[in-house]
Order: sequence, then structure tokens, then C-alpha cells
Amino acid sequence: MLIIPEIHEMQRWSDSARRDGNRIAFVPTMGALHEGHLTLVDRARQHADLVVASVFVNPAQFGPNEDFDRYPRDLEADAAMLHDRGVAALFAPNRDGMYPDGFRTTVHVAELGGMLEGGARPTHFDGVTLIVTKLFHAVRPDVAVFGRKDAQQAIIIRRMTRDLDFGTEIVVAPTVRERDGLAMSSRNRYLSSEEREAALALPRALKAGFEAYRDGERNARAVVKMMRAIIESEPRVRLDYIDAVSTGSLEPVERLGAGTLAAGAVYVGSTRLLDNWWIDDDGHEEM
Ligand code: PAF
Repeated sequence: MLIIPEIHEMQRWSDSARRDGNRIAFVPTMGALHEGHLTLVDRARQHADLVVASVFVNPAQFGPNEDFDRYPRDLEADAAMLHDRGVAALFAPNRDGMYPDGFRTTVHVAELGGMLEGGARPTHFDGVTLIVTKLFHAVRPDVAVFGRKDAQQAIIIRRMTRDLDFGTEIVVAPTVRERDGLAMSSRNRYLSSEEREAALALPRALKAGFEAYRDGERNARAVVKMMRAIIESEPRVRLDYIDAVSTGSLEPVERLGAGTLAAGAVYVGSTRLLDNWWIDDDGHEEM
């Protein structure tokens, strides 16, 4: 596996691979890889001849009081895992390469970034759309794979790539969970064992809502109320939001059905965790 630190070198590698007739799939990450990321790599391989991954902890998507400085970084371990999973090239730029002196440009997807996560993290998605744009220009992928755990991110990126004619297909892969149901996340490693146990209130609440939907409940307000009560019954967890929204507008829905995302975020100590379930436009449901 090649490790490529420079944008132009990455572009040259991709252009040459495509000239040779290869389709390129891309998995962008911030490193601190776990099985959830590696499953995205497996999914990427099903869509292309060559898989490129990136590791870059993007300062632009962290707010001033967030965990940018303490975000776990271990490029060597990440590279070994990606290599073992058959990744052809790892793009690992540095901060100055991505944001050189004088950098001014923003990429903003109207409205969608202000909902759900955007309440507590108002600048977060502008940072994500900016870096994903830059990563896509470096890697020039035919297809890119994102995790459903970050459903709002996937929805915003899909909107951006359609609005701006990127020509990159966006695949959203199912959430990978620990044995006890906690969604895999690089931030899980911040949790003490007591916090880890408390954190299960989030998947427990979402699962109860998901099962109610499967049992025929369609009243979104009733399901959200039930999920909220389950989280609030765990005193070691602080609820940020839990809601059922449209996957198109991210506005709250009245009835659960095709195109519904039920998403929640909690703080456990200072660690922020997300989880969700959704029903796609064809009515397939997945938690
Ligand atoms: O999901 C992530 O890890 C990040 O938001 C992404 C897409 C790699 C952009 O930095």
C-alpha cells in the first residue's frame, strides 16, 4: 500500500489508475480506525477495482471547545489495518497541505447543516463539506463510502455531490455495532467502563423506537417521547437531541415511514455519541 502525503501526487496516482481502466472507491476517515471503518473498506471494494482511504483529522470540523487536540492519532496502526484490508493507497496529507496560508474558501449546504448535530455544532458540517470537497478533488473517486452512523453527514454529502455535479456516487454502509449494541466510534475509546455502560442508554432507546415502528406504531411524536424517556432515565447521560426527521429536509416528521431518520446524540461525561435508525425511500428499515 502506497502512503501518499501530497495532493498532486494523489491526483497523479488516481489519474493514472483510471487511465489504466480502474474504478476507484474512496473511504475518507479521521483515523483511529476500528472495525466500522474497515467494513467501509470492504464495502468500497465491492464497488471498484482499487480502494483509496484517507486519514486526516480535519480541524475545520471541530468547534473551539471540542476534542481536536485529544482526538486519537496513530497513523502507523491505521496504515497497517488498511494495508491488511487490501487498500491500494492511503492519502495522509498534513494540515498545511490541506489548509495553506491564505486559505479562505467555504463550502456550505444550506439548512441541512443547522438541524440535529448542527444545534450543538453550528460550524461542523461546513468543515465536513469543505474537507470532503478537497479530498474528492485529491482522490477523484468514482464512488465514496460513508457510514450510516453519521447519517446527517451522509445526507449532506449526498446533497452536495448532487448539487455540485461531483460525479461521485455516494454509498452509505450500515452501522457496525459492538456486541452490546453500542455503535462503533473512534470516540468510544474516551469512555471509562462506567461511562461505557451508561452510553448504552442511547442504542437502547433507539432500539425501543425501532421495534415500536416494526410493531406498527407510526406516530412519530409518541415514538420520540418514548425514546427520550429511556435516555432521560439514565442519569449518567445528558441528552442533546432525539428526533424523527425526514431524510430529505431533516425537518421533524409527523408519521414514521419511508424516508424517516430517527437520530439521537448524548453526552456521556465530555464524550459526545451519536446513533440512529432509518427507513430508506423504498421502506427498508435498518438500525
Ligand atoms: O466521518 C468522518 O470521519 C469525517 O467527518 C470525514 C468524512 C472523514 C471528514 O473529515
